[in-house]
Order: sequence, then C-alpha cells, then structure tokens
Amino acid sequence: NGSNAYRLAVIPGDGIGKEVVPEGLRVLEAVSTKFGCVLNVDHFEFASCDYFQKHGQMMPDDWKTRIGGHDAIFFGAVGWPETVPDHVSLWGSLIQFRREFDQYVNLRPVRLMPGVPTPLANRKPGDIDFFVVRENTEGEYSSIGGRMFTNTEREVVIQETVMTRVGVDRVLRYAFELARRRGKHLTSATKSNGISITMPYWDERVEEISQGYPDVKWDKYHIDILTAHFVQHPDWFDVVVASNLFGDILSDLGPACTGTIGIAPAGNINPERKFPSLFEPVHGSAPDIAGQGIANPVGQIWSAALMLDHLGETAAAAGVVQAIEEVLSRPEYRTRDLGGSAGTADCGKAIADAILG
Ligand code: NAI
Ligand code: MG
Repeated sequence: NGSNAYRLAVIPGDGIGKEVVPEGLRVLEAVSTKFGCVLNVDHFEFASCDYFQKHGQMMPDDWKTRIGGHDAIFFGAVGWPETVPDHVSLWGSLIQFRREFDQYVNLRPVRLMPGVPTPLANRKPGDIDFFVVRENTEGEYSSIGGRMFTNTEREVVIQETVMTRVGVDRVLRYAFELARRRGKHLTSATKSNGISITMPYWDERVEEISQGYPDVKWDKYHIDILTAHFVQHPDWFDVVVASNLFGDILSDLGPACTGTIGIAPAGNINPERKFPSLFEPVHGSAPDIAGQGIANPVGQIWSAALMLDHLGETAAAAGVVQAIEEVLSRPEYRTRDLGGSAGTADCGKAIADAILG
C-alpha cells in the first residue's frame, strides 16, 4: 500500500459480533485521530445468518470481488444455530475466506493482561507474552484419504498428512520474521519421535530456514511436553510455530492460560498481501448473551491491534494494546465475564478515550 490510508471490509456477522464490532470501530476511529492513519470502512451484511434467511446462502456469489480488494477484513463472529446449522454458517463464510484468500497463518497472541484472572498460579502481567503461529491450510487437516470395506471386518480408514515444502517454509518464514521483530526466540512444535515421516521433515525445514535468521535463537519440543511447558513455564516462549493440528491445540491452550475467551484475538493472515487478511475475536456469536449489551469487546478491539500491526501501523497497534491494559486494570470498566458490571460500550469508550489520552 505504501501510504497510511487503508480500506477495511467490516463484517459484523451474528449475535454479539454486531455489538463488539462497533466498539472495535470506535477504537479504530480514535486510532486514526491519534496516529493519523486514514481508515476507509466499507460495511457488509453478508456472512451472517440474517443474510442467509433472506438469500438462502451465506454470501453473494461475487463476495470475492466485493471484499478481495480491501487491505483487511475486520470480522465479528458468525453463527446462529437457531436458524442456520453451524456447519452451514461456518463453511459458507469464514472457511471460504481462509481458503480462497490463502490465509495460511493463524496468529494468536498469548499475553497476560492486568485484571484478567489466570488459571496459572503465581503469574502476573508481563510474565506471559508470546505468539502462537499456526499453519492454517495443510498438514494433518487434509482431504486425502478415505474409507474402504465399510461395515465389514476389513473396514479401513485412512487420512494422510500433507506437508508441502512451499506450505511449511512459508509459515516458518513468517514465524522467524515475527521472532526477529520481537524477542528473537522461536520455538517449534514437533513430534518427530513418534510421527516419523512428516515431523522429521518439519524439523529439517526449521533447521534449513533458521540459517537465514542467525540472529534468532530457536529450539523445539515434542508437542506432548510442550503443552506441559505452556502451563508450567509460559515465560519461556516468544514465538511458537506449529503445524495445523498442533497449532490448533496450542492456540486454544495458550489463550486459556491467560484468561477468558472474551479477550482473545486472532489473525488469519496472507503475509504476501495478495489477498486481504482477516482479523477476528476467537469467541463466537454468544447467543446466550447476545442483545444485552454486556459482551466483552476486548477480543474484538485486540483484533484491531493485530490488524494495525499487519498493516504496518506498529505504533498504533502498540497504542491499542496499551490502552486495553490501562482499562482492564480499572475494575469499573470490566465486563461481567471479568467479574465487573460495565457494558460493552462502557468498556469500548474507555479504551478509545485511553488512546486519545
Ligand atoms: P461462543 O464463543 O459464542 O460462546 C461461548 C461462551 O463464552 C458463552 O457462554 C458466551 O456467552 C461466552 N462468551 C463468548 N464471547 C464472549 C464475550 N465477548 N464476552 C462475554 N462472554 C463471551 O461459542 P459457542 O457458544 O460454542 O458458539 C456460539 C455460536 O458461535 C455458534 O453458532 C458457533 O458456530 C459460532 N462460533 C463462531 C466462531 C467464529 O465466528 N469465529 C468461533 C466460535 C463459535
Ligand atoms: Mg480450535
């Protein structure tokens, strides 16, 4: 892009997505005032169950051209199981974005924020601060395989793991680059003792790619002990890179170690910027609390920070994270899931105000 003006496709989706996205936008507006970047926002109603009810599909046929030219997609949450089955709503929208826009990095920060209870004993803000980088397109989640001799004694089921050099190298490079910009330490998740073909290949590629990053220290752990270390030594990590399956597990475990689902953000990233990347909170549409104005907007707002970072607005991104920390340390702005009584907008406004200073 080269300038500091960006086009954002905003898709609130369903349920609390429609409540937290406006708070994300409120904060982005404060960011543009404070940091001088120009955010041009286009709103889209598709990728929601309301849209499905009107049109019989989750998205228009030309969805890809409608949002494919934007710099990023700012997404809320999709799903309203009362009217549309979850597999229909999810596969008809989010999964399409991830695949068609080749968002091969799933990025999740793991950071202990003030005022957020952690299930880990004796940890305080500052102790835990790392990223999980998950391969998002291949690996264990392949469609190669099948079932034979169904319902006979010879019944056989096979699903192959697919690791391509292109697919492995590009996610490793992303992770090494991220480590280089941060604490210069990368951890690779492996299981080359048990999974004796693909995982040794993964290790080989880490070794090879690491040579281009002599300034980044790296280590590797088998996935079983790595999950234990996440709980017992979360302070050891800076950037953790993993295959699709291992990354799926680690990217839930990490944020679970640092608090509630209401604050966790995620990026689905196409690092080459051939397609827009998508930034969304980890949580879903929360039908149980939707419409009450009590959802925690921090996951959405933190996603905005990830988006700004991806767009190259690093100072603005850091400003948003700092504002979140400031506000979470004040009990009066905490939402109900954090033991407070603030509403969604109270919390969002406080964060926007903290940015404006
Ligand atoms: P969920 O994340 O929507 O809710 C799980 C629990 O966490 C609920 O009790 C909810 O009230 C609470 N919660 C979630 N976000 C919160 C927030 N910001 N503040 C306060 N409390 C919050 O997951 P669930 O119930 O399994 O799924 C509901 C719908 O969302 C389904 O249709 C599902 O398919 C969809 N979903 C969509 C996702 C996405 O768009 N990326 C991800 C996960 C689920
Ligand atoms: Mg998962």
